[in-house]
Amino acid sequence: MGVLVWSLHALSPSFTALSVFENYYRMRYGIIRHSLEVTEKRVNESRGWRDDGERYGRVSRWLHWSIAGLLLTQFTTVLAWRWLGSTPLTQALAAVAPHGLVGLTVFVLMAVRLIWAWGMRAASARPMQSANAVGEAARVGHMILNALTLCIPGAAILRSWASGRGMEVWGVRFIPGAERQMPLLEMPADWLHSTLAWALLALALGHGAAALSHRLIARDGTLQRML
Ligand code: HEM
Repeated sequence: MGVLVWSLHALSPSFTALSVFENYYRMRYGIIRHSLEVTEKRVNESRGWRDDGERYGRVSRWLHWSIAGLLLTQFTTVLAWRWLGSTPLTQALAAVAPHGLVGLTVFVLMAVRLIWAWGMRAASARPMQSANAVGEAARVGHMILNALTLCIPGAAILRSWASGRGMEVWGVRFIPGAERQMPLLEMPADWLHSTLAWALLALALGHGAAALSHRLIARDGTLQRML
């Protein structure tokens, strides 16, 4: 290719003029490319801690993916126990990621996330859903997901307390037990924890599928707002 370009140059009657043009456009293209790279870098850097109306900021993204990762851990462990029973693998999973402690962490992170989202919304910095039926469905779906993610560990904490046993992990007491067992509180909390947890799994799978369809089918920037 280089030889061909050189031969064309050599054959050209305006050899010098062509080289000057070529160098000029190379230089100009280089400057444009460089300034585009600088702009892109600045835009990326400006994606700070807060949401910016178009995309979620670092805090929202970190909270979202941490909670998603912890929920994935919870369901993997619970399903592994259901399907495999007590094996070295499930024992190891339970030891590395104790169900109660992971759930408690989800509860705390979710509370922080809701407070942060409320602050961002008050500052009009939260990215908006589209103003149509699909956008409205997404908004309601997210509200239910958030409510479930808070209520499921909430019900487990209540159950733990009402059982009178509380919760202790690695020798540390995380939830105190009530002075006496309260079956009237314990039983509904137990039912809620289990039923809502399976509903959350179904909804979270739907949420993941919807996010992927935005990326792969609609090809809009919805998923990128959270990346
Ligand atoms: C987001 C957090 C949580 C999720 C998604 C979750 C999910 C689940 C699921 C799917 C089950 C199985 C239910 C069934 O077999 O029908 C379960 C059981 C259980 N969870 Fe959670 N959980 C969470 C938080 C917690 C917390 C914070 C605690 C303790 C305070 C806890 C304690 C338990 C216990 C003791 C069981 C066994 C109950 C039984 O089999 O009777 N969970 N959880």
